[in-house]
Amino acid sequence: MAKAKTELGWVPEEPTSRGVVNAVSRAIRDGILQPGMKLPPIRAVASELQLSPTTISAAWSLLARSGAIQTDGRRGTRIADIHPGSARYHRALDRQSTFTLDLSTGVPDRELLPDLGPVLGSLTRALTPSSYLDEPVVPELIELLRATWPYDAPDFIVVDGAMDALELATRAVVRFGDRVIVEHPTFPLLLDQLEAAGADVVGVPMDGQGMLPCALQAALGTPAAAVILQPRAQNPTGVSLSSERAEQLARVIGAADTTVIEDDSAGDVAWTPDVSLGRWLPERTLHVRSFSKSHGPDLRLAAMSGPAGLIHEIVARRQLGQGWTSRLLQRILLALLTDEQSVEQVKRARGEYRRRREAMVDGLAGHGVSVVGADGLNIWVPVADESAATVRLASQGVGVAPGAPFFVLPLQPGHIRLTVGSLAGPVDELVGMIARAVQAGSRGGGR
Ligand SMILES: Cc1ncc(COP(=O)(O)O)c(C=O)c1O
Repeated sequence: MAKAKTELGWVPEEPTSRGVVNAVSRAIRDGILQPGMKLPPIRAVASELQLSPTTISAAWSLLARSGAIQTDGRRGTRIADIHPGSARYHRALDRQSTFTLDLSTGVPDRELLPDLGPVLGSLTRALTPSSYLDEPVVPELIELLRATWPYDAPDFIVVDGAMDALELATRAVVRFGDRVIVEHPTFPLLLDQLEAAGADVVGVPMDGQGMLPCALQAALGTPAAAVILQPRAQNPTGVSLSSERAEQLARVIGAADTTVIEDDSAGDVAWTPDVSLGRWLPERTLHVRSFSKSHGPDLRLAAMSGPAGLIHEIVARRQLGQGWTSRLLQRILLALLTDEQSVEQVKRARGEYRRRREAMVDGLAGHGVSVVGADGLNIWVPVADESAATVRLASQGVGVAPGAPFFVLPLQPGHIRLTVGSLAGPVDELVGMIARAVQAGSRGGGR
């Protein structure tokens, strides 16, 4: 075994697959094996360690399952890159907070969130569950969600926001190395999450109605564990699926063996019709609705529907951790969704976001700048030069998100994303600044 240490840099303490796993894990932790390093073929390792190739192969399977190594056909087996963080998300949002006007963060306007006072006044005490294994959802909330859901969903869970839902959903259906199809462009934090899960992320281009069915069909020519899409107010484009497009995509996906994960992050502030592929594929769809934009990001609440088996698996897995999402928060949400005044406040917010978005889009159109998408708080603006546009606006005190972190495929022209959530006042002057930034960096443009 001493020889093995010299050749491989690591040596198992016991001659079993578990011993090999422990030794490789230690070598990664100690930096002896670095991300990207190629491991010798199984037979060579077996011969070095005087173990059987079956033992090494079993160890490699365990290591691959835990995400420590990556096997890629003829290119061999490598130590996996480690992506513990949210690098893209930070690139999209990490700005200095010196802007007079920050349009880079996708947050809702706090003035447009429903008033919690009356609702909190009616909830004076947190309940004690009769057991830690009680139903993790408040039944009346689920009943209400069923009545407003875009399809007849088999089962529901309430979770801590859409990102929690996506994390739980991907953990349930995506294994290390699986292909996962997403929209191009898409939300950077989703890309970070998938990368951290070791997924092979495949982008499918979109038009003004959603993912292109032909491109999706081509992408599904190779098996994929999941197709993740945003049915309404897609971030960053603002595109919502038409029901014709949803049906076309459901037909394409129906012919493949994969799970659909839908992220309706705008939820009740979106104004285009609620739509889900679950209408055609109820046993293959996980549909998420976030209440962050409509009722407050700090409520940290979302609901997810799906096939009973998959939801049950997610609930069971969650019992190893927090178990359930606070029923007190669920009861606050239930009260906000049924209280007449709160319902009216959310309706007003929806109308006001629409007015703010349309003011900006119409203003830009007046300067010859057209955008796709017509829903939600975000506007995806094509620009001649992404960094010239962002720098120019920053020098004028306006923060916007650069487009690159949203890209999955190499992208043609650059883009910037504007969030109009907090733009209450007149926008004429701002529109002029943005229109000039669109041209910045082009020959003779944007002065
Ligand atoms: C597409 C998308 N998904 C998820 C989220 C986060 O949602 P939540 O606050 O419910 O976790 C956002 C937030 O802007 C988003 O744009």
